[in-house]
Amino acid sequence: MKILLLTHAFNSLSQRLFVDLRRLGHEVTVEFDINDQVTVEAVALARPHLVIAPFLKRAIPEEVWRNHLCLVVHPGPEGDRGASSLDWAILEGRSEWGVTVLQAEAGMDAGPVWESRRFAMRPASKSSLYRHEVTEAAVEAVLAAVARFPGEGRRIAPGPLRRPVTQADRAIDWQRDGTAAVLRKIRSADGMPGVADRILGLPVFLHDARDAAPLSGAAGAVIAEGGGAVAVGTVDGAVWIGHLRAPDGFKLPAGQVLGTRLHGLPEVAGPSHIRYEEQGGVGILHFAFLNGAMSTAQCGRLLQAYHQALRRPTRVVVLAGGADFWSNGINLNQIEAAASPADESWRNINAMNDLARAVITTTSHLTVAALGANAGAGGVFLALAADEVWARRGVILNPHYKGMGNLYGSEYWTYLLPRRAGAEAARRVTAARLPMGVDEARECKLVDRVIDCGHDSFTCEIKLLAESLSAAEGYPERLFEKKTSLEQDEKIRPLDAYREAELAEMSLNFYGFDPSYHVARYNFVRKLAKSRTPLYLATHRRKA
Ligand code: COA
Repeated sequence: MKILLLTHAFNSLSQRLFVDLRRLGHEVTVEFDINDQVTVEAVALARPHLVIAPFLKRAIPEEVWRNHLCLVVHPGPEGDRGASSLDWAILEGRSEWGVTVLQAEAGMDAGPVWESRRFAMRPASKSSLYRHEVTEAAVEAVLAAVARFPGEGRRIAPGPLRRPVTQADRAIDWQRDGTAAVLRKIRSADGMPGVADRILGLPVFLHDARDAAPLSGAAGAVIAEGGGAVAVGTVDGAVWIGHLRAPDGFKLPAGQVLGTRLHGLPEVAGPSHIRYEEQGGVGILHFAFLNGAMSTAQCGRLLQAYHQALRRPTRVVVLAGGADFWSNGINLNQIEAAASPADESWRNINAMNDLARAVITTTSHLTVAALGANAGAGGVFLALAADEVWARRGVILNPHYKGMGNLYGSEYWTYLLPRRAGAEAARRVTAARLPMGVDEARECKLVDRVIDCGHDSFTCEIKLLAESLSAAEGYPERLFEKKTSLEQDEKIRPLDAYREAELAEMSLNFYGFDPSYHVARYNFVRKLAKSRTPLYLATHRRKA
């Protein structure tokens, strides 16, 4: 079928649907919902059998839904209607929630229901729930609906239309709200828009909160700092606030935003984003950096932790990333906030490269990049530095840099990608700028093993698999072969030469005449809406 994805942004769910629908043989094209006229034009060009709206912030124009079957993904159970669905579910402390795929009609979220799925809620941020539970349920429901095309939906009695959650709904009453309530409010607004508050006199939006037990202190007061976060007392304990956003700014570590206001506060061990665990012959390094963005300092700390892991008497080291992202490469927010974004870009990419190099050149252990969550740009290539790449089914990779203002990219990708995929596929993958599912990634040899399990059991699965890798009969031979092939590769072209050539291009991106990367990064961190759909997504416009 010809399917048009009409979406506010090409977000994680839209990318996943794009990948899965194409895998099923459908012809999928994408249009950003910019305004009614553009949408009508897109439909006329694409002439789709079906319009699917995975993520919309406005109603579909009547001219479109009257003439085409439009299926809308609503992140709420049957009967739930209106905006901020997931936000409300978190605020209300629901134990179960759902996703409904319904047909667009005049009444908002009131059309016939094609499919719906339910899931158990988890104490996590809205964006984490969206990336895992909502996405899984939505993909299942949409694929079932598409399989029934051209069937019909089921009419149900529509529930009341909910209004959008406001800041007043989420406002924290520090003198009354306990830790659980504070966490619920912040999680309901995280990733965006955050909860408006004042911290040490500064108006900010709160993000990235977690329980700070056993810390406690005066409710509403900042009681400690640590690891870039600040601890704020609640009536029954305290919460860590990891990131803050100034009203006209973007998310940065709380300590950085508050700066000198923190003088005199006790410094304690804050929330740690890097965690090492060991089981038998396997060391597992978890690194859960917010949004998978890895700043210069974080790369440095991870490198240190990696070296420590290599000193352990284990045989396999697993790089497990975080639960919501494996890695999305250099930290564009930190770069944007730096006095010289060009200099900070340079430092950050060099820190990523040091890390990638350490992984590539490891000869004491076999290494595994285990992707239980999505990876993008430099994060994908960092994963390729490991001997084996394992990915959970459902994970989406974006193995390209060009979307960020034609960035050339580094992380030794010019060595790693052709080595795995071959020169031709390497060219194709980086030029396409498209998301890739695990099956395609496996065909291009970007992924060696696909793991069929839920996000919650991924760590258990990789522990078992890594244990058997460490105990495998051929382990010593594999380690020996790896060492020999690295030596051979080094003779053909030293790793330093790849790095130098990539950095020469990156230097042009950072310091050259063409400001595209700086403009793209400025827009990305501030979430400026796109004014048109890029042609690599809008194939209907390409043909036109
Ligand atoms: N630096 C800083 N923040 C980043 C980031 C990065 N490298 N990559 C993603 N993020 C943030 C986004 O701003 C967003 O923040 P929010 O929580 O405040 O909304 C969050 O991570 C999720 O990203 P989003 O773009 O909404 O996720 P997605 O699943 O729709 O798309 C990517 C994933 C990877 C395609 C997209 O985030 C991207 O292009 N990231 C930039 C990758 C990059 O160019 N890195 C630099 C070169 S190595």
